[in-house]
Amino acid sequence: MSKKILITPGDGIGQEVTSSAREVLDFLIGEHELDFDITQMDVGGTSYDKNGSPLPKEVLDEARKSDAILFGAVGGPQWDDLDWDSRPEQALLGLRKELELFANLRPAFLFNELAGASPIKDEIIKDLDILIVRELTGGIYFGEPRAIVSDESPPYAFNTMIYNEDEIKRIAKVAFESARKRDGKLCSVEKANVLEVSKFWRSVVSDMAKDYPDVELSHQLADNTAMQLVMNPNQFDVIVSSNLFGDILSDIAATLSGSIGMLPSASLNSSSQGMYEPCHGSAPDIAGQNIANPIAMIASLAMALRYSLDQKGLADKIDNAIKDFIKQGYRTKDISTNSEFVRTSEVASIIIGIMKNG
Ligand code: IPM
Ligand code: MG
Repeated sequence: MSKKILITPGDGIGQEVTSSAREVLDFLIGEHELDFDITQMDVGGTSYDKNGSPLPKEVLDEARKSDAILFGAVGGPQWDDLDWDSRPEQALLGLRKELELFANLRPAFLFNELAGASPIKDEIIKDLDILIVRELTGGIYFGEPRAIVSDESPPYAFNTMIYNEDEIKRIAKVAFESARKRDGKLCSVEKANVLEVSKFWRSVVSDMAKDYPDVELSHQLADNTAMQLVMNPNQFDVIVSSNLFGDILSDIAATLSGSIGMLPSASLNSSSQGMYEPCHGSAPDIAGQNIANPIAMIASLAMALRYSLDQKGLADKIDNAIKDFIKQGYRTKDISTNSEFVRTSEVASIIIGIMKNG
């Protein structure tokens, strides 16, 4: 059966990195006669400039029909002053919410060859391999009511951090099941010492532990986890957290691995539909210079093949080719320790070459 893929390059380096992933995808389609139907559409600031909206209805409709969305990145200084609803980030938040992509998987791993690129000492981050499972469609990001009230004295603003039991259970289930397939350890992170919503989160997750006797569950407070990730990251296997804490912790975890340019992510709903994006943003400062690292986007394509496109074998093939790329000494600018590096537009053909020989 044919699978539908929507590619949304977005802004900044999103354009360059999705074009690299597209090259790899086209190669696999040719090589394995895959029945994939691919559409490419603008989102974010680029779409706002052309269509007056960061997420036009046609894009949302196409996304709903797609099995996988390969999302580049959105944002840039030229759109910083737009109204809330027109900002490029709304493309991302809108797709997450409308498609109910509640489960955000953010792996953070180190290629030991790249330990020198990490700001953390080698012996602390060696063999790093963590999975952050972040709740993505609830919590304070979307909680109502929310407002800036500027016509009162003093003016004030507020948001609502809210989770119901079903929302906590479904993300915890993804996390327990992920832990089961990995090293069997799950750490649930919140602020149960301060917030009711966190106390509730902890009790719901604790109750579920009896269904997963093979998974060792622990609980941590988010501020402590921020510290533990830097001091002793290898204590973690899978971390599950809310939308806001997961956002912050996943940036810390990504930084450990040397370059955020290496890390993919998947955002899934309950019918295995998914959006796949690199953890990095649109990096306007280096956009258009052919120096961005497209590996996170290519690895995101691998996650799409694994989780939404029924092609686990090809996902492994890409992941292995990325490992070999690093082993063979290829370095993009962000991970190069000298003045030599491969350019964005060269990476896909090197990866394809490795896959052909492998
Ligand atoms: C992320 C980003 C987004 C978020 C922004 C761009 C809306 O930081 O995906 O981590 O906060 O979720
Ligand atoms: Mg973030």
